[in-house]
Amino acid sequence: MTLSRPVIVAGDWKMNTTPADAGRLATDIAAATEVAGVTRIVCPPYVALPAVRDALAATSVAVGAQNLHGEPAGAYTGEVSGQMLVGLATWCIVGHSERRRDQAESDELIGRKLLRCAENGLRPILCVGEQLAEREAGLAEETVRGQLERSIGELRRLGAGLPADLVVAYEPVWAIGTGRTAWGSDAAAMAALIRLVLAESAGVPEDGAGVPVLYGGSVTSASIAEFLAEPEIDGALVGGASLKVDEMAGIVARAGMTAAARASAA
Ligand code: PGA
Repeated sequence: MTLSRPVIVAGDWKMNTTPADAGRLATDIAAATEVAGVTRIVCPPYVALPAVRDALAATSVAVGAQNLHGEPAGAYTGEVSGQMLVGLATWCIVGHSERRRDQAESDELIGRKLLRCAENGLRPILCVGEQLAEREAGLAEETVRGQLERSIGELRRLGAGLPADLVVAYEPVWAIGTGRTAWGSDAAAMAALIRLVLAESAGVPEDGAGVPVLYGGSVTSASIAEFLAEPEIDGALVGGASLKVDEMAGIVARAGMTAAARASAA
């Protein structure tokens, strides 16, 4: 089962680039990362989505949004709904730790956002991960389990299940933008826990073995190998390094080796 999962590299540009320069960066990344077997996704800011969509139209690089609103429509000034993203993006990051921190996004809200993704044909990348204090207190697994269970609980309350095409990104908060990465073995253990919780709490079949789990947190072309050496890890959600063409080239090249190894073992 492990070997049939896709290998995915997603770049989250966060609050960087403008509509004027984003298309060019996307084109350069696409050209530098043409590697067989790797699913590539670029997630620019909302306002750059049309430019990036157009720039990538002739490539196999997919476009993702960084967020969407938890409600389908309504009086929410300044917000963007899932429906508005249709035609602009096919993926959407949900529950990034910067939004959990800065916009106080709760696990329940994140559950509703997952539903909005499913309703609009957006494939979600659900981010989970513990704070440094939680890891040091031995509470990392409990924290991630709680995040997943509360989001799943909200979906259940709404009469919905997890989106069938869910991707999960394990992103320890202390590793994001800090230059400090987790150990591959810790990330692999967390990926196993994530699949277990999805199976236990949401009834995901085959013990969650079909759900891709990415690692995120200070991933670079130098650190990616540590994570892709783990069969439980299916790729990366890349922040800072995703704005650098050479870094993305190195990361996707390494991901291509994993994709090729999985294909030949299948
Ligand atoms: P980083 O960000 O790679 O800059 O640490 C990762 C993320 O926020 O997904």
